[in-house]
Amino acid sequence: MAGSIFGNHFQISTWGESHGTALGVVVDGCPAGLPLCEEDIQVYLDRRKPGQSAYTTKRQESDRVQILSGIFEGKTTGTPIAMTVMNESHRSADYSEIAGYYRPGHADYTFDAKYGFRDYRGGGRSSGRETIARVAAGAVAIKLLHTLGVDIFAYTAAIGGRAADPQRFSREEIRNNPFCMPDAECARQTSDYLKEVMAEKDSAGGIVECIVKNLPAGVGNPVFDKLDACLAHAVFSIGAVKGFEIGDGFEAAKAMGSFNNDAFAARADGSVIKRTNHAGGILGGISDGSDLILRAAFKPTPSIARPQPTVSKDGREITVEIRGRHDPIIVPRAVVVVEAMTALTIADLMLEGMGSRLEDFQAVWKR
Ligand SMILES: Cc1cc2nc3c(=O)[nH]c(=O)nc-3n(C[C@H](O)[C@H](O)[C@H](O)COP(=O)(O)O)c2cc1C
Repeated sequence: MAGSIFGNHFQISTWGESHGTALGVVVDGCPAGLPLCEEDIQVYLDRRKPGQSAYTTKRQESDRVQILSGIFEGKTTGTPIAMTVMNESHRSADYSEIAGYYRPGHADYTFDAKYGFRDYRGGGRSSGRETIARVAAGAVAIKLLHTLGVDIFAYTAAIGGRAADPQRFSREEIRNNPFCMPDAECARQTSDYLKEVMAEKDSAGGIVECIVKNLPAGVGNPVFDKLDACLAHAVFSIGAVKGFEIGDGFEAAKAMGSFNNDAFAARADGSVIKRTNHAGGILGGISDGSDLILRAAFKPTPSIARPQPTVSKDGREITVEIRGRHDPIIVPRAVVVVEAMTALTIADLMLEGMGSRLEDFQAVWKR
């Protein structure tokens, strides 16, 4: 299957299915000498793990990571880092009914149209479980970026139209509620709303926002591999993402140039800063040194227990009520996935950009 490799310089190759033996990733291109252990990866996987609140799938998995290669005496060796997570909670029988029809909103029909078969056990390669591999790899990229002081964090900005209030923003609160919201009051309202949604055997969607602080100016490229284009590729590759924005995004289409332009100012040392950040930290495909701000819109979870019309594999119109264990809302578990894909993109472009100037090239090679 093509398309399981992401990145050029910090490159990841992911493999595995929802109900296969295991899932995993090979990270190639991480510089030697980065201190790394399984616990560094596990803390990120634990944030993605199912079964942690009433609002996620009841599937119980420990999602313990094992590092198989690329580490010696607690540090990366510069060679491929292979990581696996075993699948434990198969219960493939839950999905035997789904084998006979196409779930509306899921990848069943299109996967079958392309490959002529599909692994109906939990969605196979199209399952949200595939994101385990991205999160494991992303944890390595985040640790690498931390060595430069680059700080990446994401949170739930809205669920079902209930949006966190920027006036009540608290970074600490993100880990205090089951929705990863930075606003405790909005989290309480969201809880009530989701209880209603679940009572109706329905699902909801929402928005994840990701901020990158301390990203130096100069990361990205001016043409096809623009930083924003690469981030869009990374984030749109996450299942259920239906919208992507940088900075003011679609709102910028309503603004005047005089409002939308971020005026430049000079610090005492003559270095350049922006007075505002409508651009979201990117100009001309290259980071401008201010906070990078991106948003991803997630659709409601497609698998719902409500009766829905669909078509069976033998072409009959039928009504289905989907059983099995599904997230009524994907967003809280996807927050760390967005963080991971952002980190992978930035690590890749930072490694690539190391040779953009002659003096940088010489600093590495003139000995
Ligand atoms: C972390 C995560 C968890 C997901 N959990 C579920 C789930 O429990 N049930 C479901 O139907 N879809 C789930 N999805 C979404 C499907 O994978 C996705 O909607 C499907 O592959 C169709 O792709 P598309 O929505 O991008 O078109 C999840 C996605 C992510 C990122």
